[in-house]
Amino acid sequence: MSRRISVSGLGYLGLVHAICLAHEGFEVVGIDIDRHRVDGLRKGRLPFFEPGLEEVFRAARRRITFTHRVADLADCDVHFLCVGTPQSADGRETDTSHVFDAALGLVPYLKPDALVVGKSTVPVGTAALLSTALRQAAGREVRLAWSPEFVRQGRCVHDTLNPDRIVYGTGGSRPQDDVDVLDEIFAPQYSRGTQRLVVDYATAELVKVAANAFLATKISFINAVAELCEQSGADVVALAEAIGMDARIGHQFLSAGLGFGGGCLPKDLAGFQARAEEYGAEPAVTMMRAVEQVNGKARTNVVELALDMCDGDLMGKNITVLGAAFKPHTDDVRESPALDVARICDALGARVTVHDPLAIDNAKKAHPRLRYERDVLRAARGADVVLHLTEWPDYRELDPESLGRVVRRRRIIDGRHGLKPEQWSRAGWSYRAWGRPLASTFFDVDVDAQAWAVGG
Ligand code: UDX
Repeated sequence: MSRRISVSGLGYLGLVHAICLAHEGFEVVGIDIDRHRVDGLRKGRLPFFEPGLEEVFRAARRRITFTHRVADLADCDVHFLCVGTPQSADGRETDTSHVFDAALGLVPYLKPDALVVGKSTVPVGTAALLSTALRQAAGREVRLAWSPEFVRQGRCVHDTLNPDRIVYGTGGSRPQDDVDVLDEIFAPQYSRGTQRLVVDYATAELVKVAANAFLATKISFINAVAELCEQSGADVVALAEAIGMDARIGHQFLSAGLGFGGGCLPKDLAGFQARAEEYGAEPAVTMMRAVEQVNGKARTNVVELALDMCDGDLMGKNITVLGAAFKPHTDDVRESPALDVARICDALGARVTVHDPLAIDNAKKAHPRLRYERDVLRAARGADVVLHLTEWPDYRELDPESLGRVVRRRRIIDGRHGLKPEQWSRAGWSYRAWGRPLASTFFDVDVDAQAWAVGG
């Protein structure tokens, strides 16, 4: 294939995208301002864990190079922008400066016919502003398209190679030419059945945040129902199984528990809410605010259960937290609900020990006060209560009897509704999960088939 492609920003989105493009046969140059990251990649070191990435990287190595010098992108025909767009602490502002810096930095090196393609998640209106800025900087029109990404961490490689859909936002004077270039780049995905949609810039920008806002709403919906179940004695797991059987509802993203976290959903939800407020779209503001509130409450519910099990006082209690990553199959701890609960328990005076199969190093950096153990039995030694907070398959396979031998009290809170309550109760554990009855009338859910297990 003849096209040479650059990818700016080598985070979860950009690096996986760059490696997958090389895997599909394109010549790719990846650029990042983080020299340490670039140096590591040159030596074949990936900066984060993502299932399958190592293998694809190894296979595609000779078609991908890494640099921190924009001049090295001068012979590229297409430039993808995948840099981060961090949110301010209050979620009000999205910092798009990296997108503008990366795009405008390209200008002196752009071939006359080059196409710039934004993939970063940006507030609606950004692509139009960037198009104007590029025109001013270059003294001519620079071709620009926007193609948001929908990849899930832990499934980035799969999702990049086999996305459900690819959306192109166009707004320049040669939309059909832009579409043709993108069609050529994504031809392998289309040959495997991916669908394509061509829209304007604003729609493309909104599709991304609206998709994440919907997923967040679905999770908060079932968590709101869990509140009702908790009070009325119904079982939210059985309920979700039943309503999910309606094809219009579906099972995915219908697992109640600790709620959502990570680098995307919370940020996109806040961004969506801020833009809705700015544009005076009041119903969207009200809805998203409720979604956020329910999600925050899901965390305090788990702490409440822990307090309940420890006679209302966590001071001096040993708490073992199973899981630090915001979801399984990743070492990412950004906005991790599990670590948030661990932090609250610590603040309430508990001695918190955290275990995670993969994310301990990152968790340590984020929360150095907490204690960490790489071995689950050591982590549980002397525990007054064990909290299951990230749905790693490893935890489903734990033997309640062996764990029971090392803890001080056989008490477990299942923050992810991923364990089999009967199994734990049989081994003498007090099992609690928000929205599930105390009595032994549990719906025997096949936890392996739970929606988040396949959906996340
Ligand atoms: C999300 C979107 O899914 C993806 O399309 C977008 O590109 C980036 O944001 P990701 O951040 O990887 O992907 O996480 P996701 O798999 O969506 O899970 C988000 C959170 O929701 C996790 O904390 C997960 O544990 C939680 N979750 C998910 C639930 O609490 N219940 C569920 O039923 C599903």
